[in-house]
Amino acid sequence: MIDTQAAVLTAVNEPLELTDIRVDDPEPHEVRVEVTNVGLCHSDLHYMTGTVPTDLPVVVGHEVAGVVEAVGAQVSGLRPGDRVVGALTPSCGRCTNCEAGRSTQCRRLEEVRRRPRPAFRTTDGRPIERLGDIGAFSQHVLMRETALVRLPDDVPLHVGCLLACCVITGVGAVFRGAQVRPGSTVAVIGCGGVGSAIIQGARLAGASAIVAIDLDDARLKAARGYGATHVINGGEGDVVAELHRQLGDGADYSFEAVGSARTAATAVALLRPTGTACLVGIAPGGTELSIPASDFFFEEKRLIGSYMGSGQARQDILQLARLYQQGRLLLDEMVTRVIPFDEINEGFEAMKSGDVTRIVVDLQS
Ligand SMILES: NC(=O)c1ccc[n+]([C@@H]2O[C@H](COP(=O)([O-])OP(=O)(O)OC[C@H]3O[C@@H](n4cnc5c(N)ncnc54)[C@H](O)[C@@H]3O)[C@@H](O)[C@H]2O)c1
Ligand SMILES: [Zn+2]
Ligand SMILES: [Zn+2]
Repeated sequence: MIDTQAAVLTAVNEPLELTDIRVDDPEPHEVRVEVTNVGLCHSDLHYMTGTVPTDLPVVVGHEVAGVVEAVGAQVSGLRPGDRVVGALTPSCGRCTNCEAGRSTQCRRLEEVRRRPRPAFRTTDGRPIERLGDIGAFSQHVLMRETALVRLPDDVPLHVGCLLACCVITGVGAVFRGAQVRPGSTVAVIGCGGVGSAIIQGARLAGASAIVAIDLDDARLKAARGYGATHVINGGEGDVVAELHRQLGDGADYSFEAVGSARTAATAVALLRPTGTACLVGIAPGGTELSIPASDFFFEEKRLIGSYMGSGQARQDILQLARLYQQGRLLLDEMVTRVIPFDEINEGFEAMKSGDVTRIVVDLQS
């Protein structure tokens, strides 16, 4: 057991509290990672603001990279000193969904997650929850060996961390979720970290037009840098009419990367008949969608969802790292700022600004 510093959420809508916590020893299949960098993701904010419920106290943070510090007795693929990023969706590798390549829907999740003792405790012994079994806003975390990927030497940890969430989510939604065909047209609603990765995925997939939609002109300007060929400010006028004006038709594919019923309905409305809308944004718990049924039977539109890149995180993260090494996946550009750990609350405030794609925390500074 070791003591380390973590940013703990003790009440919703309150700042994270930097404090010492107690980290358990690694179980046989676990690895203790010294966390170097964590990207601030909107999903963390959902827990912090209560739009997605969680038990408290909790350590959020999940877009994680770091260095292996200690390994459990049965860990064979990682050694102290290895640089790693998180492959966040735990999976057993053996159930019917895992065998079908759909490990984000592992059927033995509960079993995989079970642990004899809480991983994190307060210094007086009370259990602390961890977002996604990670709790990355802690200078040390425990992760299963199978939930980590070794990062190639020339991929810096402060950009590599983006691969763990927003990049695999966005690019995975394009390749594994919607399966965008070359030459097709794509619309992306919401151009934050996830949306920027979707735009890059669409560019890599060979889309002939990529329409970026956001409420913030600075995000739209950045979107062009990631590969958007057209932009629409969703706060000004009729988005569907504007997209038709720009493309001469609806889009073949649309992606929702905001997380609301309204933008989900817009994603379907933006499609041409037979098009596919893919929901990626996480809407507040209990949200229901309202979409005209005729879009589906007369126009044969399709509506799908995508979670954490829809499948094979370990494999995909390595491929994405190679695309970065080749200059085809822009990650440095996505990291607007690296901030010290004690400025984490200011970082979440700054996320609201359109000048930010991703803010990354350096937990060791
Ligand atoms: N499905 C998954 O696996 C998965 C993974 C990670 C994040 N998410 C979710 O994806 C969503 C986006 O995450 P992020 O980290 O990129 O967030 P972000 O805060 O970085 O970006 C959100 C963007 O949406 C824009 N926006 C807000 N309202 C809009 C509207 N009405 N129309 C157009 N644009 C609008 C904002 O200006 C901003 O640019 C969140 O809901 C997050 O929880 C889902
Ligand atoms: Zn995330
Ligand atoms: Zn499984």
